[in-house]
Amino acid sequence: MIFPKFFETERLLLRQPEMEDALRIYDRYASDPKVTKYLNWLTHNSVKKTEVYLERMIEKNRDNRGQSYVIEPLDSSIGLVGMIAMHYPNNFEIKFGYVLMSEKWGQGIISEALIALVKWALAQDHIYRLSAMCDAENRGSARVLEKAGFENEGLMRKSDICPNLSSVPRDHLLFSKVK
Ligand SMILES: CC(C)(COP(=O)(O)OP(=O)(O)OC[C@H]1O[C@@H](n2cnc3c(N)ncnc32)[C@H](O)[C@@H]1OP(=O)(O)O)[C@@H](O)C(=O)NCCC(=O)NCCS
Repeated sequence: MIFPKFFETERLLLRQPEMEDALRIYDRYASDPKVTKYLNWLTHNSVKKTEVYLERMIEKNRDNRGQSYVIEPLDSSIGLVGMIAMHYPNNFEIKFGYVLMSEKWGQGIISEALIALVKWALAQDHIYRLSAMCDAENRGSARVLEKAGFENEGLMRKSDICPNLSSVPRDHLLFSKVK
């Protein structure tokens, strides 16, 4: 699958990450426990952790096993504020994930980014299913998915671990959009 190198929406540039982004990713959200609460990776306690995480991501991007994009507002020089990813687990489905620095929550940023990727993904002939999972208590993430036209397929009990909350698996909601 060939993924676009970037997307531009009304307010945002989505571009491929580079190793030079590590410090900003670390400072702006990867080290913030408020942001990582419901994610499936531990809050980064050093920029080295962010570098390793970024290295893996860039390798995955290069192999076209999916594509992660850094999110940058177009109207300022603030630089990256978050990230959105398309994972490609089989040849008919794309799975989504996203994260945003907490100062930028509630401005419609992730909804705008996700809607652009969803439009592109559904225009690919061989893609029939888009999906995403979120912790059952992550109201913000569930709402973003609803706004992008995803439907709740149900509750997957004890289906994933949020290591920043507990080592015990937690209930997650499964959302999809199909054609
Ligand atoms: C969840 C998250 C991605 C939302 O991003 P965002 O850019 O703030 O979301 P938007 O501004 O596009 O909001 C979309 C909708 O969700 C609602 N929403 C956002 N955060 C919310 C929250 N914490 N609780 C309830 N609703 C919330 C908004 O009000 C909006 O709905 P509305 O238009 O009906 O008012 C962001 O809070 C985040 O990065 N959280 C931490 C990482 C994370 O949990 N990622 C998802 C893992 S599955």
